[in-house]
Amino acid sequence: MSQICKRGLLISNRLAPAALRCKSTWFSEVQMGPPDAILGVTEAFKKDTNPKKINLGAGAYRDDNTQPFVLPSVREAEKRVVSRSLDKEYATIIGIPEFYNKAIELALGKGSKRLAAKHNVTAQSISGTGALRIGAAFLAKFWQGNREIYIPSPSWGNHVAIFEHAGLPVNRYRYYDKDTCALDFGGLIEDLKKIPEKSIVLLHACAHNPTGVDPTLEQWREISALVKKRNLYPFIDMAYQGFATGDIDRDAQAVRTFEADGHDFCLAQSFAKNMGLYGERAGAFTVLCSDEEEAARVMSQVKILIRGLYSNPPVHGARIAAEILNNEDLRAQWLKDVKLMADRIIDVRTKLKDNLIKLGSSQNWDHIVNQIGMFCFTGLKPEQVQKLIKDHSVYLTNDGRVSMAGVTSKNVEYLAESIHKVTK
Ligand SMILES: Cc1ncc(COP(=O)(O)O)c(C=O)c1O
Repeated sequence: MSQICKRGLLISNRLAPAALRCKSTWFSEVQMGPPDAILGVTEAFKKDTNPKKINLGAGAYRDDNTQPFVLPSVREAEKRVVSRSLDKEYATIIGIPEFYNKAIELALGKGSKRLAAKHNVTAQSISGTGALRIGAAFLAKFWQGNREIYIPSPSWGNHVAIFEHAGLPVNRYRYYDKDTCALDFGGLIEDLKKIPEKSIVLLHACAHNPTGVDPTLEQWREISALVKKRNLYPFIDMAYQGFATGDIDRDAQAVRTFEADGHDFCLAQSFAKNMGLYGERAGAFTVLCSDEEEAARVMSQVKILIRGLYSNPPVHGARIAAEILNNEDLRAQWLKDVKLMADRIIDVRTKLKDNLIKLGSSQNWDHIVNQIGMFCFTGLKPEQVQKLIKDHSVYLTNDGRVSMAGVTSKNVEYLAESIHKVTK
């Protein structure tokens, strides 16, 4: 007899006929799952009535008034797309060519030899998550090496879910040094030397989430050489191209270093952050193959996988992105928009650090400005985070990760005061 049935009997055996009381349901064994950590932060924030409250949980860009920001280039591109009164027919399984061909060109650069040689298999995807999920499905089915993926410690929380969902066990390599709030380059290299040959290694191309800590170009070169030497297979996740430094080419340096060094790899791209197309779900998945013939075979299988996963991708966001990427005037405006977002984030990093120093904090806050992109790993301990939430209405995840997008010129002083009070 199921638990529900037993409980039902206890509660209602005098109220319902026996046959009804003992009926178990199809899903009576389903356990309640844990709530999403970041959505939980936002829920708690919404309930708080303190006018000074700050939400530093969600990883979406906000302007200096903490409002969502639709990029001027996106507004204009959308107008142009809508003015054409296009139909709403299905895209192909791999999406809209004007979008996915430009997406991979953005990552590898116009001069890419591998693109010219048609070594790439590129498909439009349901944003970055969808790209990772197609890649996970492809590798789960066809990877001939060690069937484990190694991700940095820590990494974006969804990486584990995505790869485990596809049946690939997830392991970790060292990445972040809690003592210095910086890259644990020595640990990373040591771990890459130990990972079994022919394993898959996930790398964040830029603006590492959640730490905001990226390797330097020199360090990327070393990582690339070691990955090659150890015969590891790179899966590069690029969710923030342009968002880290404001320069799309600079942010692509890791991907381009791997290409120049002759790696074959998988690449997941997202246009959620750099175009602010979060809910439009525009992204791209690429497998860089050894030659055109291999690319044709891989493409046929990627299509089969996508067909079974979601048939074909949504068109609207990809049309907007394509409009921007294919028109010089819009592209130029977009590059300005990306820089504006990146610069605002860099500016509030400096302001936060300066305010903490002004308040007389004796701690070293250099990492706030040394880290890059949307997130800052503050180094705050869980008990300090709880104090920030309870005593100051400053909401963030328990690991001390702060979304710098929630920091503005108006709330940065209050934030610095609150951090100072819980770290004194
Ligand atoms: C590291 C990383 N990869 C991928 C994604 C995918 O995001 P989306 O599916 O919204 O493009 C994110 C989003 O937060 C991320 O931080």
